[in-house]
Amino acid sequence: SSSFPMEKTAQERGLPYVPECYVIPTSHRASLTPEVANVPTIDFGKLKQGADEERATVIQEIRTACRHLGFFKIINHGIHQSVLDRALAMALEFFELPGSEKAKFMSNDVHKPVRYGTSFKDGVDNIQFWRVFLKHYAHPLENWIDSWPNNPPSYRETMGEYCREVMKLSLEITSAITESLGLGPTYLTKKMENGMQVITVNGYPPCPRPEMALGLPPHSDYSCFTIVLQSFPGLEIMHVEDGKWKLIPQLESTALQVHVGDHFEVLSNGLYKSVVHRATLNSDRTRISIASLHSLGLDEKMKTAEELVNEEQPARYRESSFRDFLNFLSSNDIAEGTSFLNSL
Ligand code: SIN
Ligand code: FE2
Repeated sequence: SSSFPMEKTAQERGLPYVPECYVIPTSHRASLTPEVANVPTIDFGKLKQGADEERATVIQEIRTACRHLGFFKIINHGIHQSVLDRALAMALEFFELPGSEKAKFMSNDVHKPVRYGTSFKDGVDNIQFWRVFLKHYAHPLENWIDSWPNNPPSYRETMGEYCREVMKLSLEITSAITESLGLGPTYLTKKMENGMQVITVNGYPPCPRPEMALGLPPHSDYSCFTIVLQSFPGLEIMHVEDGKWKLIPQLESTALQVHVGDHFEVLSNGLYKSVVHRATLNSDRTRISIASLHSLGLDEKMKTAEELVNEEQPARYRESSFRDFLNFLSSNDIAEGTSFLNSL
């Protein structure tokens, strides 16, 4: 029933301007020449095969990155470059399909396990965002893969392979992060094995005046953490320490970006920071990003670790589940940028 103006982009329609509904107030626009973030490098090769001392150093590096920045990149994670490249190429191929193909998955119902759309809640958001997206649940893969698009014909196989590999990596990241909090490497293993993996495939078409619109508004992710793969830069993070927006630069082609999400902020009693980020635009080519959100099971409440609560650091957060978050989104006419954490 609602219209999806991004279905044909302003560019495709040959518009030399940004339609009113996408225009961001001047005070909230991104810079065309942003500062570039310094992204800490976490070497998973050393974590998996290194000597004890080397491992301890990496765990310490993770702790520092999560406390002061809320993000880092992983190298030597073991996922083959071709798996990453194929996933990005498949995402683009999906977005290039005719609108009628993608429309099969269009919905404003945030509870749907497979959902295609443009702005976050079309017809609800005051400002539309310059992106198209496909979201789907991905773990356990066999429960969900048959509900994914089967056009392009190899979508399920290609994206399934990426999801499976990233899910495996996510369990290693979970171990490393809980270890870095002093909770031990198996603290969340069972719950994350039985947890959720939600994939958001994003496409940001070229924008004639990229400084006037945004691909995604500032938000933090409602996950324990998110693993992001992008075709080229455009993702900006809000620097916790100086409150400045900084662009994540082009990483090594095999590196993966990791963001601390709301749930690990809760687990850590605020020691680790859920990082606020947004997607910016360019005028030349479609940018692709694939975000893999990892969290506990739909109804499993995330609580602050008792070990991290004491007299000096009293508990600061209420517990909540992924379903609580979805209910919050669907019962409030709000845009994605609204923080659920702050509403608790
Ligand atoms: C995200 O918000 O997780 C994805 C942003 C991006 O396109 O990099
Ligand atoms: Fe995000």
